[in-house]
Amino acid sequence: MKVNKIKGTLDFYQYDAKKYRYLQRIASGVAESFGFREMITPIFEATEVFVRSVGEGSDIVNKEMYTFIDRGDRSITLRPEGTAPVTRAFVENKLYAIPGIHKFYYFGPMFRYERPQAGRLRQFTQFGVEAFGGEHPNLDADLINLNYQILQAIGIKNIKVLINTIGSGKARENYVEALKLHFEPHLSTLCEDCKQRYQKNPLRMLDCKVDCHSPIMQSAPLVSNYLPEEDLKYFQDVMSALNFFGIPFEKSDRLVRGLDYYTNTVFEIVYDDPNSPLNNLALSAGGRYNSLTRDFDGPDYPAIGFAMGIERLMMVMDELDITVSETKDDTITVITLGEKMKKQGLLLTQYLRLKGKRVEIDYQSHNLKPQFKLADRTGSRYIIIIGLDEFENNQIRIKDSWEKTEILIPVPELTAFFGIEGEKYAYQK
Ligand code: HAM
Repeated sequence: MKVNKIKGTLDFYQYDAKKYRYLQRIASGVAESFGFREMITPIFEATEVFVRSVGEGSDIVNKEMYTFIDRGDRSITLRPEGTAPVTRAFVENKLYAIPGIHKFYYFGPMFRYERPQAGRLRQFTQFGVEAFGGEHPNLDADLINLNYQILQAIGIKNIKVLINTIGSGKARENYVEALKLHFEPHLSTLCEDCKQRYQKNPLRMLDCKVDCHSPIMQSAPLVSNYLPEEDLKYFQDVMSALNFFGIPFEKSDRLVRGLDYYTNTVFEIVYDDPNSPLNNLALSAGGRYNSLTRDFDGPDYPAIGFAMGIERLMMVMDELDITVSETKDDTITVITLGEKMKKQGLLLTQYLRLKGKRVEIDYQSHNLKPQFKLADRTGSRYIIIIGLDEFENNQIRIKDSWEKTEILIPVPELTAFFGIEGEKYAYQK
């Protein structure tokens, strides 16, 4: 029986694999220039890592985690996101012992048992950043700026940056109470999800895609009316800094985010083209999470981060016809004539590969036709031909298929031809 890939997963090969790695390179490069360094954490963690942080009120922990009991009877979860593992690692490895701001980025697969659809996968990839230490509106704005600059570097210009503040502590508790009071008399008119969220995480009711236009949703109290002056001032300063950076944004009162760890500033960047089926697709999202290090029994360390969905970025690249330039690499194919020359060909192949060249050779054919086919299939620029004549005259024949030239040179000149340093190549006689 044929075995296919699991629903909600993708295979990347050929050009898509190239695009995937291209996005990793661009995002890492921009993050590095902002002073971020890579952190690599395990793909699975103790389930507790996510329950404590993402929270039992979230859809992720409630119904989307790939959780299993391992052979040692431990509950293990394939990571559904990267913030919790990075925070766990930050605390566990006592990275906070060195003062200052600690800035990390990561790239890798995440797993959520969601209903698969365009842009919603069960295994997807995030590029994320997390900055620990430092709580200043300029940092919040600069992180949003970083996210914005990565998208610009990829060439994705039609985007909308949505930002909000959701407060923290007592103020947020009061707001949640106010929301409950507001919704309670109307619960029977709301969707099933909203009824559940009312019990577990009323804030998320504002996120509802089903009831969002209902009058009761529209008249829900706004968080800004419940926040203390200092939180509002902080948010005001984040917006001023964004204006200063020249980052266009929209203040969105109803942006709440679905993970429990967020405090204060939250944001989302969505694709913005009303004529496209991808309109409003969330490309990236993040915010502050000032108490997460404490939830992992670490010291108080305010933090902020975001993560972008790589597969969604790939969809947008296709939509916008953004291509990754196919850099023609100087692949070499070594072609030999006759049984005896194959070993010489293999030796030359080994020499060139160890000098960092990409080299192809047909291991078995002695006929020219299949060997030229290999050169063609691999898009080789150079074709080196070794026949008995070349061997005996200590020469080598090189065809340049881009320049459409062919030369016959003495073997010692091979190194100079390919710009190779170090010992020269010689036939093994
Ligand atoms: P999130 O909003 O759950 O936040 O995910 C961030 C991004 O990952 C989304 O905007 C989307 O592009 C992508 N994404 C999420 N779920 C899927 C899926 N099922 N299929 C494809 N792409 C998806 C977080 O994960 C937070 N950890 C972000 C963060 C980092 N906050 C602070 N630091």
